[in-house]
Amino acid sequence: MTAASLRNVVCHGAGGVTTKSIWLNEHIGHPNPVMVVNEHYMLNAVGLPDAGIEKAKLEMSKYMTNKPAPVIASIVAGRADDFAEVAAQVSKLRPDIIEVNISCPNVEDELGKPFACSRVDAAMVTSIVRKMTRIPVVVKLSPNVANIVEIARACVDAGADGICAINTVGPGMMIDLETREPVLANKVGGVSGPAIKPIAIKAVYDIHKALPGTPIIGTGGVMTGEDAIEMIMAGATLVGVGTAVYYRDVACFGLIAKEMVAWGKAHGIKKIGDLRGTAVKG
Ligand code: DHB
Repeated sequence: MTAASLRNVVCHGAGGVTTKSIWLNEHIGHPNPVMVVNEHYMLNAVGLPDAGIEKAKLEMSKYMTNKPAPVIASIVAGRADDFAEVAAQVSKLRPDIIEVNISCPNVEDELGKPFACSRVDAAMVTSIVRKMTRIPVVVKLSPNVANIVEIARACVDAGADGICAINTVGPGMMIDLETREPVLANKVGGVSGPAIKPIAIKAVYDIHKALPGTPIIGTGGVMTGEDAIEMIMAGATLVGVGTAVYYRDVACFGLIAKEMVAWGKAHGIKKIGDLRGTAVKG
């Protein structure tokens, strides 16, 4: 993660930017191939590679000088103590939000089940991060659970200011018919892209219905301005865009914003906030 890459998405119309998840120490990701994409979905197992907090601090402080747009610092760890340490260090850089990534599916072998798969673990990590910082804390949840609302509620009760839903679905697998083996070196990977949008929409809808006072970053399968509006109608306060870059290039951010404005104009919308959660209220 570099300051230049963060600035690049802002230059292309993003209203804010989330860093790659930052570890305490350098973390080597998975070997190639790490991703595969078709018209329906992307499968990825990058393995959260990162140069660690010291390098992240250098790059983030470069970004913070003449900060062009709000920044969400995403943090990840395998142990609660490490979450506390990364949160404390990242806080000094004054990001607008800290996103606690407890839901990456691809480091299970090293770390066991993601913290986001258990109410108790999710709450434990949330409260540890909460104690370390006064910056707003948003917890990124996994859709791969029986009841995402229960996990969201546990995080909010433990002090989360908001919820980010959803991380990737699965994990899933794709097999190459010629080699007769899984395509990804890690064999399995998180599913993102157009196919997961209905799962993301329902998760955001359910969380907003149960916790109407909680801000939600809605993400998962958002490719177009219409997708972003749908996410807001489900209850999202902010909309996250990731995999769309692979379908529409980095220009996707500006395109999505333009499409949202066009839709709003065509439907006589005065304030985007008026659309938030309308599907839930209706
Ligand atoms: C990876 C991380 C994620 O949070 C995810 O949802 C999928 C893949 C990764 O780095 O492998």
